[in-house]
Amino acid sequence: MTDLLIASVTSGFHKLYGYEPAGVWSAPGRVNLIGEHTDYNEGFVFPFAINRRTYAAISLRNDGLARVSSSFSPEVIDVPVDEITPESVAGWSAYPLGVAWALKQLAQAKQTGFDLYLESDVPVGAGLSSSAAIECAVAVALDELWQVGLDVRELARVGQLAENRIVGAPTGIMDQSASMLGQLDQGVFLDCRDLSAQKIDLGFAREGLELLVIDTRVEHRHANGGYASRRAACEAGAIALGLGSLRDATEADLARAAELLDNTTFRRVRHVVTENQRVLDTVATLRELGPRAIGRLLYASHQSMRDDFEISIDELDTAVETAMRHGAIGARMTGGGFGGAAIALCPIEKIGDITRSITAEFATLGYVAPNIFVVSAADGAHKN
Ligand code: GLA
Repeated sequence: MTDLLIASVTSGFHKLYGYEPAGVWSAPGRVNLIGEHTDYNEGFVFPFAINRRTYAAISLRNDGLARVSSSFSPEVIDVPVDEITPESVAGWSAYPLGVAWALKQLAQAKQTGFDLYLESDVPVGAGLSSSAAIECAVAVALDELWQVGLDVRELARVGQLAENRIVGAPTGIMDQSASMLGQLDQGVFLDCRDLSAQKIDLGFAREGLELLVIDTRVEHRHANGGYASRRAACEAGAIALGLGSLRDATEADLARAAELLDNTTFRRVRHVVTENQRVLDTVATLRELGPRAIGRLLYASHQSMRDDFEISIDELDTAVETAMRHGAIGARMTGGGFGGAAIALCPIEKIGDITRSITAEFATLGYVAPNIFVVSAADGAHKN
């Protein structure tokens, strides 16, 4: 698949622009194993980069023009690099052009124009960070071609800034960090306060497990209100508790929080506080007992998102409950919520039954047919 996509993005570039690209860079999507809506609260997350990637074929131009195109949108969009602003870009091209803009904000980039062509096999709108995959592929490419020399954490910040300011989604640092820092068979345990990261062996294959993604095909958008309102509730909760961020709250603070906060804000806070603890417990359990022991934590995370943070939807709950009934070790929605995908950690021999059961249950309930597939942990952004 990888080689096919590299050949295809190279020939797509050639067909469009009439010459060979200087190179191909790629970056993966991600699933989050656990730690949801904790990143912007300076908390803990534990995602991994997946074996679905975005490939960017790029060459520099001698003038200041940026031309961008992709297999998923036939037109070529061109704009002078120094005229890119948060107001001047729209649609999918906001991701690559936003990265060019963000590099200028965060580093001394000597910007020249460039030609860019993208292909991707990360499903769009599924909560698997197809946007971070574009941002990180373009960020590593331009960082090298423009000789900027940022490290992986700074490049993750470039992607996040593009997402926040140009695309207008007030998201945290998790997706871009996972896409930059991912490693084969490893999860990325990230402290979002200082971006220190540890790679943790997942051990799924060794234990006869696979991670199933159930894309509900209900599209989510974080530039819409639900994500921002959850973030605002967390900030309000931290202020009321006299804390800089909810990272500094523990389960011991919850009794006080229940007295100080209205019920909704209290439940938002409780989700973040307990979710941070579940991330720490998941990493410790994985190390001590292996992946078969983390199921309870994954499912508890889903319940917390469903009941306290209220970001799940019926399709995600159905996917999770059906997977659990048919032998998944643990399951939860993954990503920002309000649509997108669930994950289920499954014994390999149960994958067929779980997949068929979820598909049948969705049909019975009249939901759009889900897209169900297995993912594994893959390497982060790099030159191909
Ligand atoms: C989206 C955002 C992330 C993170 C998750 C929720 O994926 O992009 O920054 O907040 O939602 O955990």
